[in-house]
Amino acid sequence: MKHFLESFCLLGAFLHVCTQHTVPASEFQLEGDYLIGGLFHIHDDTGSVYHERPEALDCTTFLWLILFQMIRFSVEQVNNSTNLLPNVSLGYDIFDHCSDTQNFPGVLKLISANGSIQPWSDKQSVLSKVIAVVGPFTSTQSLTVAPLLMVNLVPMVNYATSTSVFSNKAKYPSFLRTLPSNLNMIDVIVRILQKFNWRWVAFLNSDDDYGNDGLNLFTQRIKDTEICLPYSKGLSDSTNYTQTFKQMEAKQINVIIVFALENNVEPLIESAMLLNVTNKVWIAGDAWALNKKLPKMKGIKNIGTVLGVAEPVVTIPGFSDFLHSSKAQLHCKYAEQDTFCNQKCNCSCMNPEDIFAADPSYSFAIYSAIYAIAHALHNTLRCGADKCDSNITVYPYILNIIYEKCLFVCLSQDDLTAPTKVKTHYQRSFVFILFFSGVFWHLLLYIKHLFCVGFSPQSVATLQKCLFFFFFYLFYVLNMCLVQVPTSLCSPECPAGYIKKRNGIYECCFDCEICANGTYVNITESPYTCLKCKDIEWSEEGSTSCNLRAVEYISATDIVATLVFVAACAFVGMTLAMSVLFSVNYNTPVVRSAGGPMCFLILGCLSLSNLSVFFHFGKPTVPLCTLRYLPFLLFYTICLACFVVRSFQIVCIFKIAAKIPKLHSWWVKYNGQWLVIVVAFVIQAIFLVIGYSCKPPSPYNETSWYPDKIILSCDISLQASTASVILLLSICTLCFIFSYMGKNLPKNYNEAKAITFCLLLLILTWIIFATECMLYRGKYIQLLSALAVLSSLYSFLFWYFLPKCFIILFQPHKNTQQYFQGLIQNYTKTISQ
Ligand SMILES: *[C@@H]1O[C@H](CO)[C@@H](O)[C@H](O)[C@H]1NC(C)=O
Ligand SMILES: *[C@@H]1O[C@H](CO)[C@@H](O)[C@H](O)[C@H]1NC(C)=O
Ligand SMILES: *[C@@H]1O[C@H](CO)[C@@H](O)[C@H](O)[C@H]1NC(C)=O
Ligand SMILES: *[C@@H]1O[C@H](CO)[C@@H](O)[C@H](O)[C@H]1NC(C)=O
Ligand SMILES: *[C@@H]1O[C@H](CO)[C@@H](O)[C@H](O)[C@H]1NC(C)=O
Ligand SMILES: *[C@@H]1O[C@H](CO)[C@@H](O)[C@H](O)[C@H]1NC(C)=O
Ligand SMILES: *[C@@H]1O[C@H](CO)[C@@H](O)[C@H](O)[C@H]1NC(C)=O
Ligand SMILES: *[C@@H]1O[C@H](CO)[C@@H](O)[C@H](O)[C@H]1NC(C)=O
Ligand SMILES: *[C@@H]1O[C@H](CO)[C@@H](O)[C@H](O)[C@H]1NC(C)=O
Ligand SMILES: *[C@@H]1O[C@H](CO)[C@@H](O)[C@H](O)[C@H]1NC(C)=O
Repeated sequence: MKHFLESFCLLGAFLHVCTQHTVPASEFQLEGDYLIGGLFHIHDDTGSVYHERPEALDCTTFLWLILFQMIRFSVEQVNNSTNLLPNVSLGYDIFDHCSDTQNFPGVLKLISANGSIQPWSDKQSVLSKVIAVVGPFTSTQSLTVAPLLMVNLVPMVNYATSTSVFSNKAKYPSFLRTLPSNLNMIDVIVRILQKFNWRWVAFLNSDDDYGNDGLNLFTQRIKDTEICLPYSKGLSDSTNYTQTFKQMEAKQINVIIVFALENNVEPLIESAMLLNVTNKVWIAGDAWALNKKLPKMKGIKNIGTVLGVAEPVVTIPGFSDFLHSSKAQLHCKYAEQDTFCNQKCNCSCMNPEDIFAADPSYSFAIYSAIYAIAHALHNTLRCGADKCDSNITVYPYILNIIYEKCLFVCLSQDDLTAPTKVKTHYQRSFVFILFFSGVFWHLLLYIKHLFCVGFSPQSVATLQKCLFFFFFYLFYVLNMCLVQVPTSLCSPECPAGYIKKRNGIYECCFDCEICANGTYVNITESPYTCLKCKDIEWSEEGSTSCNLRAVEYISATDIVATLVFVAACAFVGMTLAMSVLFSVNYNTPVVRSAGGPMCFLILGCLSLSNLSVFFHFGKPTVPLCTLRYLPFLLFYTICLACFVVRSFQIVCIFKIAAKIPKLHSWWVKYNGQWLVIVVAFVIQAIFLVIGYSCKPPSPYNETSWYPDKIILSCDISLQASTASVILLLSICTLCFIFSYMGKNLPKNYNEAKAITFCLLLLILTWIIFATECMLYRGKYIQLLSALAVLSSLYSFLFWYFLPKCFIILFQPHKNTQQYFQGLIQNYTKTISQ
C-alpha cells in the first residue's frame, strides 16, 4: 500500500506541472465553487502504436463532440438558474479520454487537491473541488478508471457504460448511471426475438467489455427460451468479415444481433453491402441504433431490415443556440494549448451542423447526469429559495449517498429550472429509467419515435405495457411497408400432433415425428414426447389430446337382453309344464324309462341353471360377475350326473347286469344312482367355493379390442374355474361313453341316443362359443354366452324330454307295458341271433 501511495504522490507531482500549464479560459474548464469532472471520448486513440519510451498520448483522430458540448451546456444552464443552487456556481474540468488505458493524468488531476492525492482523506485535508465525475465513455475505460474514483467514493455518474458489472454495488459503490444497463437492453432484444418468433440467431459483439458482457447476458437470458445461438463472434479490427458472413450463410441464419460499438459496426455493415448480403434482419444494440451515417449509405436497403433498441432522442431546448453562440465566441483560439493533459481540441472550428449530424444517443443521458448531480448538491447544501448554507463542507461520499436517495424524488419535483419541455419529460420519467426507442430502417425509412418513456425498472407491468405499444407500432410499420416478417428458424415448427426429435446439438433443430394412436403430444408440457392416453381415453394418430372412450355393455333393458329373458322364462314355463305332465303320467313306462323321479331333479336343475342367463346383462358388478356362471356350473353338473347315471343304468340293465351281477346288486343295494349324483354335486360345490374364493370374479374393462371404446365385462379367472370345468368335462365324457355304449338298445330305450345327441350339441355349442371368444371381444360376447347357456339347456329339453311328452300326449299306444315288452323281446331276439 505504501508503494501505491508513493506512486500516487509521484503522479501528483507530475500533475502539478500539468496544471500550471493550463489556460483557465479553455473550453475544457469552467471555474466554479464546485466542479464536475468530465471524461469524454472526443478523439479516438491512435496510440495502439508500440513505443519503447514513456510518451504522451496523442489524441488526434477526431471522433465526436456532441457529448462534450452537452456537458458544457448543461453545467452552464444549471449555473445560470436561480432556483437550482442559488448563489452557488458550478464549474467543470473536462479531459479528452481518448484511450482505454492511458488517460490516467486526467483522472488523477480530477481526484487530486492542491497537486496531491490523499486516499481516505479526513476532514482536515484539503479537498478537491471536483465533487463528481461524469464519464468515461466505453466500458473498458470505465473499468480502468473506476477503481481510482471508488477509493474516496467520488460519484462516478456514467452516461454510456451499460456493462452489467457495474451493477455490483459492493465492487462499485459510487458508480451511478443514467442509462439502462445491458441487462435491460438484452431483455428487450430477447423480447423482440420472441415476439417475431426468431429462434435461430447470430450474435456479433465488439470484442471488448461492452460486447462480451452483452454476449454473456444474452446466452444466460436465452437459456430457458427456445432461442438458439448457433453463431457468435467478437468483432475487432482484424475480423475477416467475408469469413464471418460465409459462416452465417452456411448456417442459414437470417437474424443477426449486432451488439457492438460504432467503430466495429460501420465496417461490418459496409462489408455486408459489399458482399451482397441481403434480406437479413439486423438488431442493433443501443451503441449504434441511432447511427446517422449508416442509414444514408447507398445500398443499405439491400441488407434487409434493421431494428434497434436505443435511448430516446430528446431535443433539449437551447442547446442549438448555445452551440452557435459558443462558436461565435471562441474562433479557434486554443488549438495549440496544453497537449499534454488532453485538454486540446480544434473543437470550435466544427460547425454546429456537424455536431448535430452526430449520433445523438447519449446527449440526454449527460443532461440527466448533470441535473442529477446538481440536485444532489442542492440537497446537500440545504439550499432554500435564494441561498444555500455556505458553512457545509461537501464530501463526495455524502453527495453519493444523497444522489442515490434523491434520484427518484428530486427530479420529479416541480421547482426544476429546466425549460418546460424537458421538465415534463423529467416528470414522466426518472433518471435511471429505461428509455428505448425502436429504430426501424427499411427503404431508408428512419423513424425517430419514443416508445417507452416513463417507467422505472421496478415496474414490470409498465414495461410490458410499453413493450406492447412498441410491438404494436413495429407491426404497424411492417404492414405499412408491406414487408413480410422474415423467419429465422433452424427447422420449421412441427404440425400439431407431431413431436420434435432433436437433430444435432441445438434445440431449434429437429425432425418431426407423428404420435401413434393411443398417444398424444402436449406442446406446453413436453414437445419431445408422445404421452400415453389414460386407459379410459383414446386418440387417433397425430393427436394433441385424448378423447374419452365410449363405455359399452348390454343393459338389462336392451332388446336382445329382453329376448333372451323371454326365452329363459319360456324355458322355465316349459320345464314346469313338463313336470306337471310327468307327474300326472308318473306311472307310465315312458316316464319311468326317462328316469322316473330323476326327471324332476333334472328339470329342476335345468331351471336353476337357467338363472345364469339373468346375470349376463347390465353393468357388471361383483355379485353379477359371480353369479354369471355359478348356477350354471353347479346345477348343470347335477343334470349331467343324472344323465351319467341314467345312461349307466340303461347300459347296466342290458349288458353289465348279465356280466357282472355283483356290481349290479351293489348298485341297487346302496342306491348307487343317488350316491353318484350327490358326490358329483358336493365335489363341484367344493371346487366352485374354493375357486371363487381364491379369485373372485370382478368387473373388468376390456380396452384392447376397440381403441375408442371400453367394453365392460367380467374377469372370470380360467385357472380358478379349471377344476370345475374339468369335472364337468369328465362327467360329460363319462356320460358320452355310457350313452354311446347304449346307442343300439331297443327303440323305446333310445334315451341313450338322445343323450349322445344332446351331448354332441352341447360340445358343439361351447366349441363355437370358445371360437367366437377368440375372434371377438365386443359387447355382444355376453349375448353369445347367454345363448350358449340357453342352447345347452334347450338341447336337453328339446331332444330328451320333448319326444317323451310327444309320446305321452299323442301316441298313448306306445306308452303301454305291452308295447315295451314287445320291443324288448324283439331286441333280445336280434341280440341272440
Ligand atoms: C447563461 O446566462 C448567460 C448570461 O445571462 C447567457 O448568455 C447564456 O446563454 C446562458 N446560458 C445558458 C445555457 O442558458
Ligand atoms: C452570494 O454569495 C456571495 C459570496 O459568495 C455573497 O457575498 C452574497 O451575499 C451572496 N448572495 C446571496 C443572495 O446570498
Ligand atoms: C455562473 O454563476 C455565477 C453565479 O451564479 C455567475 O456569476 C457566473 O457568471 C455564471 N457563469 C456562467 C458561465 O454563466
Ligand atoms: C498548496 O500547496 C502549496 C505548495 O505545494 C502550499 O504552499 C499551499 O499552502 C497549499 N495550499 C493548501 C490550501 O494547502
Ligand atoms: C477471409 O476469409 C476468406 C474465406 O475464408 C479468405 O478467402 C480470405 O483470404 C480471408 N481474408 C483475409 C484478409 O484473411
Ligand atoms: C455484388 O453485386 C454486384 C452487382 O449486383 C456485383 O457486381 C458484385 O460482384 C457482387 N459482389 C459479390 C461479392 O458477389
Ligand atoms: C483545426 O481544424 C481546422 C478545420 O477543421 C484545420 O484546418 C486545422 O488544421 C485544425 N488544427 C489542428 C491543430 O488540428
Ligand atoms: C456559519 O458559521 C459561522 C461561524 O462558524 C456562523 O456564525 C454562521 O451563522 C454560520 N452560518 C450558517 C448559515 O449557519
Ligand atoms: C393405429 O391406427 C391404424 C389405422 O387406424 C391401425 O392400423 C393400427 O393398428 C393402430 N395401432 C394401434 C396401436 O392401435
Ligand atoms: C397441456 O399441459 C398443460 C400443463 O400441464 C395443461 O395446462 C394443458 O391443459 C394441457 N393441454 C392439453 C390439450 O391437454
